[in-house]
Amino acid sequence: MSSNPLNIGMIGYGFMGKAHSNAYARVNHFFPELKLRPVLKALWARNEERARTFADTWGYESVETDWRRLVERSDIDAIDICSPNNTHREIALEAARNGKVILCEKPLARNVAEGEEMVKAVEEAGVPNTVWYNYRRIPAVTLAKQLIDEGRLGRIFHYRAVFLQDWTISPELPQGGEGLWRLDLDAAGSGVTGDLLAHCIDTAIWLNGGIQSVSAMTETFVKERIHNLTGDVEKVGIDDACAFRARFENGSLATFESTRYARGHKALYTFEINGEHASITWDLHDLHRLGYFDHGDDSAVRGWRSIHVTDGDHPYMDHWWVPGLQIGYEHSFVHQVADFLAGLEEDETVSPTFAEALETQKICEAVLESARTRQWVQL
Ligand SMILES: NC(=O)c1ccc[n+]([C@@H]2O[C@H](COP(=O)([O-])OP(=O)(O)OC[C@H]3O[C@@H](n4cnc5c(N)ncnc54)[C@H](O)[C@@H]3O)[C@@H](O)[C@H]2O)c1
Repeated sequence: MSSNPLNIGMIGYGFMGKAHSNAYARVNHFFPELKLRPVLKALWARNEERARTFADTWGYESVETDWRRLVERSDIDAIDICSPNNTHREIALEAARNGKVILCEKPLARNVAEGEEMVKAVEEAGVPNTVWYNYRRIPAVTLAKQLIDEGRLGRIFHYRAVFLQDWTISPELPQGGEGLWRLDLDAAGSGVTGDLLAHCIDTAIWLNGGIQSVSAMTETFVKERIHNLTGDVEKVGIDDACAFRARFENGSLATFESTRYARGHKALYTFEINGEHASITWDLHDLHRLGYFDHGDDSAVRGWRSIHVTDGDHPYMDHWWVPGLQIGYEHSFVHQVADFLAGLEEDETVSPTFAEALETQKICEAVLESARTRQWVQL
């Protein structure tokens, strides 16, 4: 196989550092048509010993403890930002200035102002870029997009999404620092809105088009927590829960809800779309299935069907096992890398770009503004 290396400089070795490293390691095995070959060239982390352990496990050739050095290295082609949200802007700006390809985790930034700077930086530098809204590339979700684009649902009336977790219910849980930066407003930018609803919003606008206006409510159930970095009891600034209504540009109505206080739910992301002719449901817990109801079916057999999205002609599935065998969460990252590499080879933009992720950021910000002002916010 003739292939061209694409040297990856990885920022962070947590949950996403691992998911992305796995994707780079697997992609050429399952997408052999790709000519670009990601090489795990260097890993950045603050702690050298931990960085070396991760680098050895995953096969990174070297480690850096100063991210600026990594971003400036001439043997690095692409920077992959898998660190907390408050680090995205600065690293992306420097990576763009150094002409690197940039892959950035979601949300793009903590707020719209940071996101706008990032979009400007990548566009001025002319560097290929993407944001890891990976749920789009779960085959069942991609199939939903195909069915909608083929017009099978007809006019869309309703979009309904929830993302429920339960891991922050205990008031004893601290905020801030390693593993708990999501509870720290300064590190995360927001709570469930930027962390979980951002995924729901990205999927929604991809499937159903732009959002026109939102009306939201948020709550912070635990008002104070010990801060890991200061040791002091500090105010909690994030939204623990958020629910909002939205009007889409196509005239459909939507509800979105997310919380980390839904006892019993670890990562229940579901959506349902109701159209004139058909409806669709999807559930992260059964991510390889798509629920589909077609009113055009003969009434004797009409009903909800559960499509096992594992056949060779389902999106991405011809790259995996034989029909009938399902794939999982980690494959969505492999698919995103595969599509991004194919785009690089053809000099084509691959969605979602920084500019597209900025649209999601704007909706998140409008949701938070609406909750604050208790008013509808137009986008
Ligand atoms: N696409 C998805 O589905 C998805 C899922 C989870 C997280 N994310 C995003 O990925 C990014 C990283 O999230 P994660 O779950 O991998 O986080 P994590 O806490 O598991 O890992 C974060 C990494 O960043 C490093 N780090 C650097 N500066 C830090 C700081 N000041 N405080 C804490 N850690 C610091 C940590 O050492 C670690 O290597 C975030 O932007 C998050 O929103 C996306």
